[in-house]
Amino acid sequence: MAEIVGAYFTSHVPAIGGAIARGDQNDPYWKPFFDGFPKVREWLAEVKPDVAITFSNDHGLNFFLDKMPTFAVGAAAEYRNADEGWGLPTYKSIEGYPELSWHIINGLVGDEFDPVTCQEMLVDHALSIPFELAWPDVEAWPVKLVPIGINTVQHPLPSAKRCLALGRSVYKALQSWKGDEKIVIIGTGGLSHQLDGERAGFINKEYDEFCMENLSKDPDAMTRDSIHEIVRLAGTQGVEVLNWIAARGALGPGAVERHRNYHIPISNTAAATMVLEPA
Ligand code: DHB
Ligand code: FE
Repeated sequence: MAEIVGAYFTSHVPAIGGAIARGDQNDPYWKPFFDGFPKVREWLAEVKPDVAITFSNDHGLNFFLDKMPTFAVGAAAEYRNADEGWGLPTYKSIEGYPELSWHIINGLVGDEFDPVTCQEMLVDHALSIPFELAWPDVEAWPVKLVPIGINTVQHPLPSAKRCLALGRSVYKALQSWKGDEKIVIIGTGGLSHQLDGERAGFINKEYDEFCMENLSKDPDAMTRDSIHEIVRLAGTQGVEVLNWIAARGALGPGAVERHRNYHIPISNTAAATMVLEPA
């Protein structure tokens, strides 16, 4: 049976890619954020995952407002990166793992989720930035990818409860996977941020702390709020916390916190990085 080694969570602000390209990691603005990553890298070097199952949102690269799947699972042999308009470099392609993707898709459909299955899928800053942060100097990514997309963009969004259940269904599917790989779960986006409108720049440290505290101990507590309440608490884009909630579900029933970093602001975002291990 495969082993879930843990879960890594991070914000995915595109400007991080610009900071990496310029070598600004020690710049006073960026340092408190990048200082959260040596611990993540040490942990990854220790647990050595072969596969990453990721939960993130597409930002208009694969799906636009005219066609927006609530849940989408990649089942491609390769995922190319593309920039949907931030002026970022093109990052390395990520190798897929179609057999595991289809196993997970079968599990999800068996549990009455109805994901869109994508045999072609591009990846945007929501995946490439977390990968660059985790494995900064590698020639090829050390993991194969199963990407799971959640609509956090075009309302109606799935409820937090539904996202946690989606993650738990992925966990259940992994229990019957015959491979013996080491799997890291990755959740990206958040925490609180709002990019436009009257509340542009909105950040809510108290709600972020509620989320970070409950992520390991009581993820069901993160499902107490309706989507509109989460938008009010976390901001219109802070609702990307749904990706964290689903990823937490995929980690399994119990979890212990291994690492946390939180810094306000990076661009418009309360930037958070966490590592959890199965309890
Ligand atoms: C920012 C944050 C995001 O999550 C995103 O997808 C784009 C931009 C920001 O804070 O600039
Ligand atoms: Fe985002």
